[in-house]
Amino acid sequence: MHSKILVTGGLGYIGSHTSVELIQQGFEIIIVDDLSNSSTEVLEGIKKITGVSPEFIKLDLKNKNEVNQLFDNHPDLIGIIHFAAYKAVGESVNQPLEYYENNIGSLVYLLQAIEKKGQRFSFIFSSSCTVYGQADQLPITEEAPIKKAESPYGNTKQIGEDILYDVTRSNTLLKVISLRYFNPIGGHSSIEIGELPKGKPQNLVPFITQTAAGIHQKLNVFGDDYPTADGTCVRDYIHVVDLAKAHVVGFKRMLADEQSENFEVFNLGTGKGNSVLEVIKTFEKVSGVSLNYEIVDRRQGDIVAAYADTSKANKVLGWHAKNDLEVSLKTAWEWEKKIRNI
Ligand code: UD1
Repeated sequence: MHSKILVTGGLGYIGSHTSVELIQQGFEIIIVDDLSNSSTEVLEGIKKITGVSPEFIKLDLKNKNEVNQLFDNHPDLIGIIHFAAYKAVGESVNQPLEYYENNIGSLVYLLQAIEKKGQRFSFIFSSSCTVYGQADQLPITEEAPIKKAESPYGNTKQIGEDILYDVTRSNTLLKVISLRYFNPIGGHSSIEIGELPKGKPQNLVPFITQTAAGIHQKLNVFGDDYPTADGTCVRDYIHVVDLAKAHVVGFKRMLADEQSENFEVFNLGTGKGNSVLEVIKTFEKVSGVSLNYEIVDRRQGDIVAAYADTSKANKVLGWHAKNDLEVSLKTAWEWEKKIRNI
C-alpha cells in the first residue's frame, strides 16, 4: 500500500499544475473535483505531461457523507492539498451563503474526516494575498496585519486560516501550511494545461489573452488615477508552475517534520510589482499583438498595490519564483492560441 495525497480541485487551474508537479516528484495522488469550474479533459493534459493517469473521483465536498466515504475508502491518505473553492470575488458579494457553505463547509467536513482518522496528516491550504487587503507597507510580509475582508470570498480565506490554526491547537497530529498566493498567471510550458475560465473572465491576464484572440472587442483598464507610477494598479504576477512547485516543497517540509510550528503561512509571489499598463505592454511585446484597450472607471473593491516580500518562502522553503512576467505572459498566450486554434 502506497501513501497518497488527496488533491481537491485538482482539475482546476492551480490544482492541475500542482498535480503535475506532485506526480513528477513521485507522489501518488487522488484528484477529487466537482467539475463546477473544470472539466475531465484536464486529466488528459496531466497524463500527456506526466505519462500517469491519476485516480479521479467526481465528488462534491459539500456532501459530508461523501467526504467520509472518501476517507473510509482511502485509508492510505497521508495528506491533502486543498484547492477546491469558489473564487469569484463579485459573485461572492451577491451569493455569500453559497461561498460560506462551499468554502467553509467543505473545509470543516474534510477536517472532521481527518480528525476521525486519528493519524498524522499534512494539509496545504490555498490562501490568498487578499487577506492583507491594502497593506500599509510594501512589499507585504507575512507579519502584515490581516485586514477586514472586502468580500465574502476574501473572508472565506481568512476564516479558513483561522479554522486551520484552531484545529492545529486541538489536534497536534495535524500539520498545516497556508500558502498566500499573489496573482497566479500563465500555463504549463508543454501547453497541455492552462487557465480555463468559465464564462467571462474577471482576472486581468485571461481577459487580455481572450481580447487578443478576438473574443472580446476591448479590454477595460480599471482606473489610471491611482497613486502609482503610471496611475494603474500594481500586482505581483507569479507563474502558475512556480506556484505549483511551492506546494510540493511545502508538502515535503511537513512530511520531513521540519516545521517550526504546526501552522505556518508563506507568501507566494515574485516579489516584483507590475502595473496593469506594464502587463499590457509586456503582453504586446511577447505576443506581437496590439491590444485594444480603454481606460475606464475604477473597479469597486480594487486595492492600489500589492506585491510580496518573499524572503520567508525563499529562506525557509528554499523556494524562488523562477519565471518572469514575459515568460508567464508568453505561456498564457500560447495556451490561449492552442485552445482557440489560432
Ligand atoms: C482578484 C481578487 C482577489 C483574488 C484574485 C483571485 C479583487 C479585488 N481581488 O485579485 O481577492 O484572490 O482575484 O484570482 O477582485 N484589471 C483590469 N481589467 C480587467 C481585469 C483586471 O484593469 O478586465 C486590473 C484590476 O483592476 C487589477 C489588476 O488588473 O488592478 C488585476 O486584477 P485581477 O486579475 O482581477 O486580480 P486582483 O484584483 O488582484
